Amino acid sequence: MTADCSRALRTPSPGGHRKHSGFGVEEPIDTSVHAYLGGPVHRIGIVVGVVSLALAVSAPIAASAAHAPGLDPLGTTTEKPVIVQHADPQRPIIAVSHRGAAGHAPENTLAGLDAARRFGAQTVEIDVRQTRDGELVLLHDVTLTRTTDVEEVFPDRESHQVADYTLAEVRRLDAGSWFSPEFAGEPVPTLGEALDRMEELDLNLFLEIKEPDRYPGIEKEITAELFTRPIWLEHNPPWEPRRLVVQSFDWEATRSSKRMLPSVPHALLGRVPENRLADFTWAHMVNPNHTTVNADYVELLHEHGFETMPYTVNSRAGMDAVLRMGADGFITDYPDAGQRAIRDFLGDEGRDGAPDQAATPLLPVPLVPVLH
Ligand code: G3P
Ligand code: CA
Repeated sequence: MTADCSRALRTPSPGGHRKHSGFGVEEPIDTSVHAYLGGPVHRIGIVVGVVSLALAVSAPIAASAAHAPGLDPLGTTTEKPVIVQHADPQRPIIAVSHRGAAGHAPENTLAGLDAARRFGAQTVEIDVRQTRDGELVLLHDVTLTRTTDVEEVFPDRESHQVADYTLAEVRRLDAGSWFSPEFAGEPVPTLGEALDRMEELDLNLFLEIKEPDRYPGIEKEITAELFTRPIWLEHNPPWEPRRLVVQSFDWEATRSSKRMLPSVPHALLGRVPENRLADFTWAHMVNPNHTTVNADYVELLHEHGFETMPYTVNSRAGMDAVLRMGADGFITDYPDAGQRAIRDFLGDEGRDGAPDQAATPLLPVPLVPVLH
């Protein structure tokens, strides 16, 4: 399928951004018909679904049970079927606001989340690491050096790695001044604080698990944190951006997270080699560095049923390029510029004779989860 074809199949949001709209905890049904339906993943899914009707019925039940507040999925050791919702043409193309809104405010801070909303983002990306005492915090780097004043506050400490500091120690740091005096005193937030702020701001989330091999069990801790706020396990309606995507460069940890959060879409960060794409049918997205992709690769991802939102695209030329490749969105430090580029791109598409997408009927698709 060509990129142009992909765009023509999209429909704009009929209701704008309406989060927490009661679409429920379960989202086992991909209600879309799209050009990827004939791809190998879906063909496998359809065959498996038809042959294994009982399993097809049990899959949503498993996902529902895993999501029910008060039920703990973490002790589960048996392999559960997972539900994969592949590329959906109803979903709007989005500019995911990177590290909060790293172009406008100190990255991975609450001020950054506020800025993301102010600059028009619907979805933000954040990085999560773990402190010495096991608390989940928003930090990109392995050390605290670049984005805090740790060297001033703890001049005698040999290590400035996040994993060597307790949350109480991290809380003494200023994570805003390095960016601008305007943000002096901005703290490093916990994941819980960030989830609460994003809920207040009606923001969706791409949650990156950063270097999980340094923090054994971090996927489990993140899952537990999400279970204390089950609103994050609900799903937005299909014409809105996804509420939550969990992603990592560590594909094993991503798989482990997917097992614990079976109906939450997961993304592989980095460029998955063409000959390995078939190994990751449990994943929803592949999000590579934008400099490593072209239209052929995007098309191949779509043929395998993956959405793709390359990172980190900050120039207008780069945004235009990934949109022309057929990407489903992109990750950017500048959500305002990103939204402008998307608006212009869709406008251009309209002038090129794309059908009135609002009038494109949505056809029902049978409930056929892809089981693994
Ligand atoms: O969301 C993907 C992107 O954030 C990955 O790169 O280094 O900015 O975390 P990085
Ligand atoms: Ca990141």
